[in-house]
Amino acid sequence: MTKTILTGIKTTGTPHLGNLIGMYKPALELSKVPDSKTFYFLADYHALTTNKSQDDYRQSRYEVAATWMAFGLDPSKDIFYAQSDVPEIFEIAWVLSCFTAKGLMNRAHAYKAMTQENIDAGKADQDININMGVYNYPILMAADILTFDVDLVPVGKDQTQHVEIARDIALRFNSHYGVEGFKLPKAHIKDEGAILPGLDGRKMSKSYNNTIPIFEDSRKLKKLIFKIKTDSTLPEDPKDPDDSTLFQIYRNFATTGEIETMREKYQYGIGWGDVKKQLLEVVERYLEKPREIYNNLIDDRDKIDQILQEGAVKAREMAAKKLNEIRKIIGIK
Ligand code: TRP
Repeated sequence: MTKTILTGIKTTGTPHLGNLIGMYKPALELSKVPDSKTFYFLADYHALTTNKSQDDYRQSRYEVAATWMAFGLDPSKDIFYAQSDVPEIFEIAWVLSCFTAKGLMNRAHAYKAMTQENIDAGKADQDININMGVYNYPILMAADILTFDVDLVPVGKDQTQHVEIARDIALRFNSHYGVEGFKLPKAHIKDEGAILPGLDGRKMSKSYNNTIPIFEDSRKLKKLIFKIKTDSTLPEDPKDPDDSTLFQIYRNFATTGEIETMREKYQYGIGWGDVKKQLLEVVERYLEKPREIYNNLIDDRDKIDQILQEGAVKAREMAAKKLNEIRKIIGIK
């Protein structure tokens, strides 16, 4: 049976190597699963919860779209669109919100972390500065998924709770009406290796300001790779690859043979400068073709818009069908 796979990426900031290894790559690998139907989209309205500068917002939209395509998204096979171009999703989000307990949203991790920050800071109102978009975020995400009868949602560990929430809401709806209005999705969790460390050794993340943008030009890429933090062990000292930021990045871009050789070198001693040189080489090699595609696309916004529009037409057709079914189930029609 055909498996439907769907995932979205928020259009915030410039895609970095951590996003590539953690999101784009594993998601796109699933499009190769035989007999699968894949949906990839720009979660642009999700990005609005944090992204308030118009120029950054727009820029990120094109960068995320071009990155998807640079790494193999094929708009003629994969259904590729911007969430904001499929208004049916937002109508379904409203329906879902009427089947979502407020308490369930109180427990969503992003919202909870923000209220905790306010409490820790001694604020009298724990909800101060938290917009309703943040609060409703999991419901919109549930709508993204449930609109398309999705089986599998490739996500990082931090997003599994959201997929569980989508299941919960779907179950609530289905059991209320006694029909399978929405299909129950499952999270497809990426392995541990999918978390890439950043310049300072912590998880690569925009919020830690430790990222390496994917499509930085070669000179800047080199500069950043040489900035990755290392310790003061001497070149001849044996080193533990599993405890090395450089190695953790290297093994995502090198071949199996290269990884083995590098492991041995760590054991017998290699200077950090040498590791960085070799890391740069494998990253450059990995990025060579995608960079060409990306550079051709990124300045052609009309072309990107056109591709997204075509994808939205396909997505809307399906979404409208679902919405119709749902309207019937709830008794509007
Ligand atoms: N919340 C996801 C993230 O931050 C992005 C997202 C939005 C998403 N809607 C989705 C992911 C639906 C998978 C399915 O990464």
